Amino acid sequence: ADKTSQYTIGFSQCIGSDLWRRTMLDEMRMELSLHPDAQFIYADADGNSSKQVEQVKKMLDDGVDLLIISPNEAQPLTGIVEQTYNKGIPVIVIDRKTSSALYTAYVGADNYQIGKMAGEYAGALLKGRGNVVEVMGLPGSSPAIERDRGFSDGLRKYTDINITDRIYGDWLKDSAKKQLTRIAPVIKNADVIFAHNDVMALGTREVLDKFKIHGTKVLGVDALPGHGGGLQMVASKTINASMLYPTGGKEAIMTAFRILNKESFARENLLQSVVIDSANVQLMKMQWSKISSQQKDIERQRTLLTEQREVYNSQQLVLNVIVMS
Ligand code: FRU
Repeated sequence: ADKTSQYTIGFSQCIGSDLWRRTMLDEMRMELSLHPDAQFIYADADGNSSKQVEQVKKMLDDGVDLLIISPNEAQPLTGIVEQTYNKGIPVIVIDRKTSSALYTAYVGADNYQIGKMAGEYAGALLKGRGNVVEVMGLPGSSPAIERDRGFSDGLRKYTDINITDRIYGDWLKDSAKKQLTRIAPVIKNADVIFAHNDVMALGTREVLDKFKIHGTKVLGVDALPGHGGGLQMVASKTINASMLYPTGGKEAIMTAFRILNKESFARENLLQSVVIDSANVQLMKMQWSKISSQQKDIERQRTLLTEQREVYNSQQLVLNVIVMS
């Protein structure tokens, strides 16, 4: 057994049900399987910040050795994260941030850069002229704030591009659709609509189709592989481009064990992003199917290993019985 065996890691997820966060959890579990004796406590706050605070309190009562958290909104979760940190329990913040610098490590992509990349991409797409609408995430959640700031900065040099409206879609498809329907006259004149995630980008396309608005370019964020993910949406031209937003699940668990084992670790773990559009989407899909088939091989080998260990153990048992009789 490795020296990590006694550890309990708590993971507080802001909302667990979407594909992006299920992918994050899969990545975590994959990495955790290399530490079979460690305990993992998982709680899903369903997009409710006060519920998330309660769930973290419960984890502290249960005696976690380290907390990983993706705060639903920055402000409401800041207090409990600071308390955890001040108790001497290491905290890894993943994807969304609090409003405080009191945390042990951060894992995630640079959301300001992602917004900026989207702005520059939109500017080039429009050749410097046109109308843009922005569908933002949940107010008060850090990626929504940072992507919005980055997007404005990315468009700043394009003086003939106007952001004609900015609405909140709360990261959810239905909320985005509702808000876009409300501003239907504005989206009729939009050349590009940038949604802060692919789920809302899909909702955007559905609203455009419903109003028979054609030719509007839709940009999103996440670019997840697999069924229903952004890569597929780009490949099928449902959306025009997506900014890759890696989940960081694997990196968070790796960082957790480095901290727990008192090894050196980076405080800021910034993950790379890239624009996925029709020019590189096929390549990305191919890379992903290769990785996922290798992943399946690894899982098969692990099952085989467990089976062989069981056979070995039962043979040992038989041997002991023979020796003793
Ligand atoms: C998933 C999600 C992603 C987005 C991220 C921002 O819950 O909405 O689509 O990129 O959260 O925190």
